[in-house]
Amino acid sequence: MRRKLVVGNWKMHGDLTSNQLLLERIINGVRELNNADYVVCVPNPYLFQARELLKNTNIAWGGQNVDQHEEGAFTGAVAPHMLTDLGCTYVLLGHSERRSLFHETNLTASARFEAAIKAGLTPILCVGETLAEHNAGLTEVVVASQMDAVMATLNEQEFALAKQLNMVFAYEPLWAVGTGKAAASEHVQTIHKFIRDRIAKRNTQAAAQVRILYGGSLKAKNAKDLFAMPDVDGGLIGGASLLANEFVEICRAAN
Ligand code: PGA
Repeated sequence: MRRKLVVGNWKMHGDLTSNQLLLERIINGVRELNNADYVVCVPNPYLFQARELLKNTNIAWGGQNVDQHEEGAFTGAVAPHMLTDLGCTYVLLGHSERRSLFHETNLTASARFEAAIKAGLTPILCVGETLAEHNAGLTEVVVASQMDAVMATLNEQEFALAKQLNMVFAYEPLWAVGTGKAAASEHVQTIHKFIRDRIAKRNTQAAAQVRILYGGSLKAKNAKDLFAMPDVDGGLIGGASLLANEFVEICRAAN
């Protein structure tokens, strides 16, 4: 049985005061929930605050992106070891907003995936199709190309490391992200199964173990239905992760 995983993606929201309130409420809300894993991916300037508030709790924290270089003249970039230095155990990679707004590609996602695992971070690789691609029936083609680009760059040793770190995939159709219109559970299940089968072509054990999250307008009200699908192992939550009650309810549904 795979343990469910709920990951909050705060995106570019928050400040010291509101973060503290939000985290205190979440800490209280999930304290007794021991049957799933919980993570918040906060903006880099607040990782120190997250570490202070979340150490010794059952909530882990992570970054929303990371650079592929170890150090150097890369103004504005954050290296993998900087995230681990601040206690991060997870990092989001290839989020659709990074791809569409910051010109990131399968190539950068691959390089960052490799750099992240080498630093000991559990990568959460985001994949998903646009509305136009969805309507054209290209969902599986797009998802496959995004996955394959990353998987192909991993040699056997790196793949084993990613497996050991419990790499995570997140299916986030762009038409569902931030729109209030989550994908139907049956559609999500179909694509998650497709993702798992694709990993199985490389390694069946890894495929059985990998957690595949759904993201895109996942809220307290639709969490139960989505989490009931056999290949949905949790969620990547944007908007609803900024509301303590909503986020705790989603964590409860996963638990
Ligand atoms: P949303 O965002 O829950 O606000 O749709 C999900 C995400 O972008 O990870």
